[in-house]
Amino acid sequence: MNEVALHTFFYIDTCSRKEFISKKFTENRKTGRIQSMSEKVNRLKPNRPSPIELPKDPFYSGKQSPVEPAVDRLLNGEYVLVQDQFSVGMNILSALKKHLFGDDKKDSFKAYRGKRTKFHHSSNYLLAPIKNNRLALKKSPDIGWLEKLYPDVEDFHLPFPQVQGLNSAWQWYTKGIKYPVLKEKVYPYYGAYFPTRFDHLYLFDYWLKKYSGPKNTAIDIGTGCGVLSFQLLNRGVEKVYATDINPNAVISASEDTERLGLEDRLEIWQSDLFQVIDKSADLVLFNPPWLPAQNEITGLDSAIYYDPGLFERFFDSAGDYLAEKGRLVILFSNLAEVAGLEVDHPVEKELKSNSRFEKVKYVKRKVVKPSKKTKRRNHRTEEYVELWELKKQG
Ligand SMILES: C[S@@+](CC[C@H](N)C(=O)[O-])C[C@H]1O[C@@H](n2cnc3c(N)ncnc32)[C@H](O)[C@@H]1O
Repeated sequence: MNEVALHTFFYIDTCSRKEFISKKFTENRKTGRIQSMSEKVNRLKPNRPSPIELPKDPFYSGKQSPVEPAVDRLLNGEYVLVQDQFSVGMNILSALKKHLFGDDKKDSFKAYRGKRTKFHHSSNYLLAPIKNNRLALKKSPDIGWLEKLYPDVEDFHLPFPQVQGLNSAWQWYTKGIKYPVLKEKVYPYYGAYFPTRFDHLYLFDYWLKKYSGPKNTAIDIGTGCGVLSFQLLNRGVEKVYATDINPNAVISASEDTERLGLEDRLEIWQSDLFQVIDKSADLVLFNPPWLPAQNEITGLDSAIYYDPGLFERFFDSAGDYLAEKGRLVILFSNLAEVAGLEVDHPVEKELKSNSRFEKVKYVKRKVVKPSKKTKRRNHRTEEYVELWELKKQG
């Protein structure tokens, strides 16, 4: 049992829920977990792509070099340093993609995932040079993250795909995203999860609009860029406490909260599930990762893949943070099943194996098919998102 679970287990055994939460509040005070939001955000160290130390005699590839030798080296796990201009790196990556994927569009989900893993692995050996916190390649995009995320280093090398990731993240951050369920734009920080499809947001909004029970306070576990927390506030919830395990998500949602002047109504903390929460709420909301992890999870992967035990830990604690007439709301999807992965449905499993919660409502919504242009696999065809409204038993 990890530290948090052990902690929770001990207190539930020895005192009532109310005492447990108030003890936690006192403890948070003692350990200094209670700080102002900006104080806390300033202390957070965001995840960023790690600079790579160049080998002594790197292989260079420039405007005049043929791409094949560079592709061979990448496949061999050897570093290739891009020279001259940005498009050199782009050309090598597209040659590598062509080499691995060919023109075959009939791969199974598993075969496709294998090729994608190989591409991910090899492409990260392609390096881009950075000088004075700017890409040292002609015709490169301006990427503000190279300054913002690297105050401690000016000249370094990053894997080319990471640079591409930083570039698109900078576009989202500077231009913002307009969600159909929100009035204001959201400006996601680098490495924070933000939804690019809206099905679960519509589903949640539909449920929230109809919900007539108490909704003064809410806890949003795994807030990402904060979109569900903002929905809660828009629909009349007075105060939201949000957590995320990823520091970049906490920075992201905190920056937007400040920009919108909502600091009094939305508090965001870096925390594993409920670790730092010391209050109960009318609504406890969790839009968890939807796929079981196959490998170790780092950074943004924790938005997509869940570790074994995540849901057990969540359900072990959730009841302690739910007010008497409160509701637990979980957003999920059948993506794992559609992808051919044999796993238990975590909510169904909890309802079947324990008698802590009972189902009040279940609603689902078919996922809008991606357009032909963006369609990659057929595995999305039958996909739907679902919302589970649960209450405590007894
Ligand atoms: C699918 S995303 C949902 C983000 C956002 N709530 C939304 O609906 O767009 C899942 C989020 O849960 C966070 N997360 C994963 N494991 C967590 C944990 N143990 N404690 C807190 N947050 C976690 C991830 O970092 C990610 O931001």
